[in-house]
Amino acid sequence: MQARLVAMEEGKEPSLPISNQPRAFPRSLRFCSVILGLGIVFTVFSIFMSRHFSFENVVIPATSSKIHLCFQQSNDFQSWIRPPLNVWHRMSDAQLLWRASFDPQIKSYPFERVPKIAFMFLTRGPLPMAPLWERFFKGHEQMYSIYIHALPTYNETYPPFSPFYQRQIPSKVTEWGMMSMCNAERRLLANALLDMSNEWFILLSEACIPLQSFPAVYLYISNSRLSFMEIYDDPGPCGRGRYNHNMEPVVNLTNWRKGSQWFEIDRKLAVDIIKDDTYYPKFEQFCRPACYVDEHYFQTMLSIRSPQLLANRTLTWVDWSQGGPHPTTYTKADVTKEFFTKIAKKQTCTYNNQPSKACLFFARKFAPETLDTLLEHSLEYFGY
Ligand SMILES: *[C@@H]1O[C@H](CO)[C@@H](O)[C@H](O)[C@H]1NC(C)=O
Ligand SMILES: *[C@@H]1O[C@H](CO)[C@@H](O)[C@H](O)[C@H]1NC(C)=O
Ligand SMILES: *[C@@H]1O[C@H](CO)[C@@H](O)[C@H](O)[C@H]1NC(C)=O
Repeated sequence: MQARLVAMEEGKEPSLPISNQPRAFPRSLRFCSVILGLGIVFTVFSIFMSRHFSFENVVIPATSSKIHLCFQQSNDFQSWIRPPLNVWHRMSDAQLLWRASFDPQIKSYPFERVPKIAFMFLTRGPLPMAPLWERFFKGHEQMYSIYIHALPTYNETYPPFSPFYQRQIPSKVTEWGMMSMCNAERRLLANALLDMSNEWFILLSEACIPLQSFPAVYLYISNSRLSFMEIYDDPGPCGRGRYNHNMEPVVNLTNWRKGSQWFEIDRKLAVDIIKDDTYYPKFEQFCRPACYVDEHYFQTMLSIRSPQLLANRTLTWVDWSQGGPHPTTYTKADVTKEFFTKIAKKQTCTYNNQPSKACLFFARKFAPETLDTLLEHSLEYFGY
């Protein structure tokens, strides 16, 4: 039977009557050309579809050639390391945090990776200091990325040549001292983690300015063994006084820490923060005003988990000397050469186990009216 079939396909069946031969041969040929034609049409169609439509949006019946094309697409190494072209997306917070928690476990990267600093701006609306920041960033395009969390009702107006153009991430309403503030910070971190090249993460406000040039900031952060988050144990009513014993034993009174919201952390700590589901529920439930959660959650959590990775100080200078719940906001009359010299002179800290006089690289809070003066003197004051 097997031999007979093979013989038939080859058109060499010796027992067939001679009169049948001319008809049988063209019929199988015709059948073959139809199959061949259909194959060509389908291949052209598949190529056309794959070139012109993204796979997510087009449903084509699964065929072997289609599956083959899909695999070629998603196995392409570039597609794993390329940052998202657009920071806008339709992921929910839960989807975003989950996706951002995928982090390389092999730390020697098999491609040329220039580690970047992610500058994450937590704002209400516009960034009045944007022109100053643009000057700071100019010429260092490969070494930073920008993310902006604004009120959801705010539509950005940055021109296409600005580094702030289309860097606003999907945002939600945030309230001072509430968990929504930490959620916004986690959202910024998660969006920034999606870019494999981001190695350090700085949280800034619209009232922050850079006190030194980009290369100075980059060198300082990239060579530091520790992350810069202000963390201290305040025994008073605004420190331990905000602790709630219902957090035991996940967080005990002796673990309770306080510090400024404005931090610089590395990729490991950023992942630790976005993946946390141990401390988050405790802080969400038991740290509500007058417990200001953005001054306690990351500070306490990280000093329980990774105290050896923290410098316990911030890079962002601020003036609390006037008292009250908010620090001083500087106006046009304040931003003189003497003012910045005074800030520079005051500094003493420890950097990589050595005493250092370079401690502060950003400062707040500056009113929008200071911009013109700062732009005029940025080279003299800050070196950029
Ligand atoms: C922002 O833009 C959207 C769509 O272009 C518009 O519907 C909305 O009203 C704008 N919001 C503000 C606050 O301008
Ligand atoms: C809190 O205290 C309990 C009891 O002493 C201990 O088991 C637990 O490990 C402590 N928690 C932390 C985060 O240190
Ligand atoms: C930061 O504080 C933690 C305790 O919260 C401590 O273990 C660590 O050594 C401190 N780091 C530095 C650099 O002082």
